[in-house]
Amino acid sequence: MGKFQVMDHPLIQHKLTIIRDKNCGTKVFREVVDEITMLMAYDVARDMPLKDVKIETPIAKTTSKTLAGKKVAIVPILRAGIGMVDGIMKLIPAAKVGHIGMYRDEKTLEPHEYFVKLPADISQRQIFVVDPMLATGGSSIMAIDALKKRGASNIKFVCLVAAPEGVKALRAKHPDVDIYTAALDDHLNENGYIVPGLGDAGDRLFGTK
Ligand code: PRP
Ligand code: URA
Repeated sequence: MGKFQVMDHPLIQHKLTIIRDKNCGTKVFREVVDEITMLMAYDVARDMPLKDVKIETPIAKTTSKTLAGKKVAIVPILRAGIGMVDGIMKLIPAAKVGHIGMYRDEKTLEPHEYFVKLPADISQRQIFVVDPMLATGGSSIMAIDALKKRGASNIKFVCLVAAPEGVKALRAKHPDVDIYTAALDDHLNENGYIVPGLGDAGDRLFGTK
């Protein structure tokens, strides 16, 4: 079974409070999502493999560590996942970015896939799927289905706010996927929104509605 980790570092909790507040405007919301994602990326990357390289400092020859293993692909689930790309890119600038377009039908809450564009070597990469919200789990499950259909196998899912219902569904469908979240909230309401949550992440990031 993959990992399930709530990344409740004090800085992350503090910043999450800022974006949960309904009075937080688009500019600050976008900036703070970026900061939280960067803080999370630091720990999500903790198990990346290293190898020894020989280098020469100004003082002496030495053996030092460098990243080894699979290259990284960041895959945001559109739209809201886009807000989490730069935070990881700042730490892993060589990562490639794939996109999966997914929207939830507001009535049925069923996800619909409308776009998939991935790096050609996606099956060779360590993949970070990013989306701020894990609600019913429908969107993340379908996005990971789309990745696996194209040969991907090494997948971590990173979100900001998760509902217990979504965590359960995602772990049941994709038990191999590690899940990282900044908060595990209480429940979903009758409209499929996370309670207390932060509202519609896409609308808050892009100033729509
Ligand atoms: C939101 C969110 C997730 C999805 C989560 O996207 O960004 O992708 O809902 O819900 P689920 O776990 O129940 O599937 P939305 O469909 O609102 O699209 P948007 O990002 O384009 O606003
Ligand atoms: N999608 C969001 O953007 N917010 C929620 O609370 C649930 C799904």
